[in-house]
Amino acid sequence: MRLLIAHATVVVSGNKIAAEIGTSRSEVWRLIQRLRQFGLDIAGHPSTGYSLKSMPDLLLPDMLAPQLNATIFGKHIHHYYKIGSTNTAAMEAASAGAPDGSVFLAEQQTAGRGRGANQWHSERSSGIYCSVVLRPAVPPSDVLVITLAAGLAVQAAIQEIDPRITPDLKWPNDVLIGKKKVCGILTEMNAEITRVRYIVIGIGINVNQSAFPADLEAIATSLRLASGTEWSRVELCTALLKSLDREYRSFVESPDAVNSILRRFQERSSSARGWQIEVEEDADLQGVTDGLDERGFLQVRTAQGVRTVLSGTVRLK
Ligand code: BTN
Repeated sequence: MRLLIAHATVVVSGNKIAAEIGTSRSEVWRLIQRLRQFGLDIAGHPSTGYSLKSMPDLLLPDMLAPQLNATIFGKHIHHYYKIGSTNTAAMEAASAGAPDGSVFLAEQQTAGRGRGANQWHSERSSGIYCSVVLRPAVPPSDVLVITLAAGLAVQAAIQEIDPRITPDLKWPNDVLIGKKKVCGILTEMNAEITRVRYIVIGIGINVNQSAFPADLEAIATSLRLASGTEWSRVELCTALLKSLDREYRSFVESPDAVNSILRRFQERSSSARGWQIEVEEDADLQGVTDGLDERGFLQVRTAQGVRTVLSGTVRLK
């Protein structure tokens, strides 16, 4: 891929590619077929050579890194064509010492994980499947606020690319368009009781899906379905990582960041206040939302008084 990009629009012979990457011409043919399966527009065949007809919308480090060099995410970008889960890869890498700001991206996940026991639908090259490793020097109780900030970062990135789209936030970290989910965030951590060792924020954005499986149709949407146009995943992923970098830096550097995150989350989430909700895992916990407390937990006015949602899935009524 790197070779074809470096020689974009010219024909590169199968022999040259084979020699450069140290393999046979028949293996080059097999690799080209696989790249075509990822939607790459590659002309030619083994006897004439190959040329890239247009720049691919793949989340390759070579495409992203030059635009991210002023952020913490520019140095350690890992890309997979197919992987089980980028969160699992990032957690394993973090436990083996992957530095703050490492990024794990995949074109396709075969075991994408959602919150709880849910799976994450991870169709090939349609969505953004991204996990980042962060090593903030904070107690575990601060991680919820970082996760809320990740939701704000996703919302800002989408709006930066298409200001006509107005994504809504649903506590703690779903991004919705017209009540359907366009993005989910799964934050996992390894911590001591008073100190985080590392966290992994996994972000799944439905970008160019034109349809969803029957069981998701009523609850999921994509940016393409919402806007009527195809999106560049490279452009959106760059905007996302820049926006996440801004939120994370300000969280680490500014004493006022927590207040700012909580205030902005409440401003940008239509359901954070005055919305009838229930918590799926707790039949008694239903009522009207009443904003976030100072740690980021959702407050709900119930028949028994104000209660705090500490865990579980909030369902909007
Ligand atoms: C949810 O809403 O339940 C959270 C979904 C999180 C999905 C993303 S996709 C990238 C990363 N890898 C995973 O396996 N999950 C997260």
